[in-house]
Amino acid sequence: MATSSSNSNFRYLIPVLSIAFVCTLFLFSNLDFSSYSISPVSDNSASSPTTTTKAVSSSTPSPIPTSTPAPVILTAVDSIGSRPKETFSDLIPVFDRWDREVVCDRFQAKFKDWKVNASAVQDIDRYDCSELKMSHASVYVKISSWVPDIMEGLYLCRCGLSCLWTRNEALADKADVWLWVTFQLENRTEGGPLNAFYQCEAPRWRPGIEDIFISYHASSEVQSTYAGKFYTMHRNYNVPNYKRDDVLVYWSSSNCHKFRNEIAEKFLSLVPHHSMGKCLNNVGGTDMALTFYPDCQMGDNPVPHWWDHIHCAMSHYKFVLAIENTFTESYVTEKLFYALDVGSVPIYFGAPNVWDLVPPNSIIDASKFNSIEELANYVKAVGEDPVAYAEFHAWHRCGVMGNYAKVRAASLISKLIQRKNLLLLRRSGAGA
Ligand SMILES: *[C@@H]1O[C@H](CO)[C@@H](O)[C@H](O)[C@H]1NC(C)=O
Ligand SMILES: *[C@@H]1O[C@H](CO)[C@@H](O)[C@H](O)[C@H]1NC(C)=O
Repeated sequence: MATSSSNSNFRYLIPVLSIAFVCTLFLFSNLDFSSYSISPVSDNSASSPTTTTKAVSSSTPSPIPTSTPAPVILTAVDSIGSRPKETFSDLIPVFDRWDREVVCDRFQAKFKDWKVNASAVQDIDRYDCSELKMSHASVYVKISSWVPDIMEGLYLCRCGLSCLWTRNEALADKADVWLWVTFQLENRTEGGPLNAFYQCEAPRWRPGIEDIFISYHASSEVQSTYAGKFYTMHRNYNVPNYKRDDVLVYWSSSNCHKFRNEIAEKFLSLVPHHSMGKCLNNVGGTDMALTFYPDCQMGDNPVPHWWDHIHCAMSHYKFVLAIENTFTESYVTEKLFYALDVGSVPIYFGAPNVWDLVPPNSIIDASKFNSIEELANYVKAVGEDPVAYAEFHAWHRCGVMGNYAKVRAASLISKLIQRKNLLLLRRSGAGA
């Protein structure tokens, strides 16, 4: 497990405090944390309830950065375990409770000084529309793989441009750009369409014969994040209002990568979970999702595939385990974003700079825990604390996004934007 001890940023204090609280409260479970206070970390004389202040000071580990802004605003995740344990399923009353006990104002104030690295995400408005010298563009998707079929068609792009996106060779006979995905790039023919090469996996590598390089990282000519919804038209995106209260964690992996499997095995052995894919399957096969969740059925699909209902299936769980194949800067994939999209809290093992790409308090970052056991105890405590659980949804309910709106805009699904980038690069001859 990746660990991180040299935290100099304020935001790291939040999970540190949360963990400290969990430990403290397991020992002193009779403490009364009925209110959420705003208190300086080491000031006992504040007017806030003394128990709260004491708990913070006594459980705060020494390497707290001295440059931390003085007032720490405490919310529900800072007192996990202080409330009576509860089972819960329906999110609506849980959100209502959070609205009464914590409120958006407090959450927004807590993250007012949240620092994100703006350079981790490309700015969609970095080009000026007046640079554009054409009114229509057509993109031929040469290798389809999992490139979104939702984008097929002719539509209006940014800057008033019309765009055609197609996998059909006849429709694309006058294409401006050929989009290649990961492999099989061919040399560009004289006077032919530009070659755009989309490397979606880590580590990144450039074939060297591409005109435009697209990847998950901001240093590429076009950054395409995985944070887009609805890649594929024929899927069940149904998401219920409730979560299971018996099985906490969803995991699904069918490419049983050794590195990932070892982490998953260790973590999952400590929490009630369903492992739905081929790896570590514990539900009696890989086709169980529709048996468990008839609401995830695809109406007219006689032979459903697991990906037809993956969003719907995972949405029934409070947490989704998301482990990247490799822990690489900015390589944050659909494993995390699908869970965010369907309202399940990701438990994340992956990119060290993940907080530059996701909203504040939206995920449980495994790298901030000292051990898998500590992580598992934290997850179980949140799973029995409806108010704290609701707080992992506060980012979208209160509009506290960090870089996330930009990350969404930089996804391939934000078709209007990407197409403009391709064209502008073409005009300036970049990458050739
Ligand atoms: C900000 O993000 C960019 C792109 O990921 C990275 O190269 C740079 O090192 C980051 N800066 C900091 C201070 O983390
Ligand atoms: C592309 O052309 C170069 C010569 O310009 C050649 O060396 C290379 O093998 C070609 N690559 C492919 C994939 O066709």
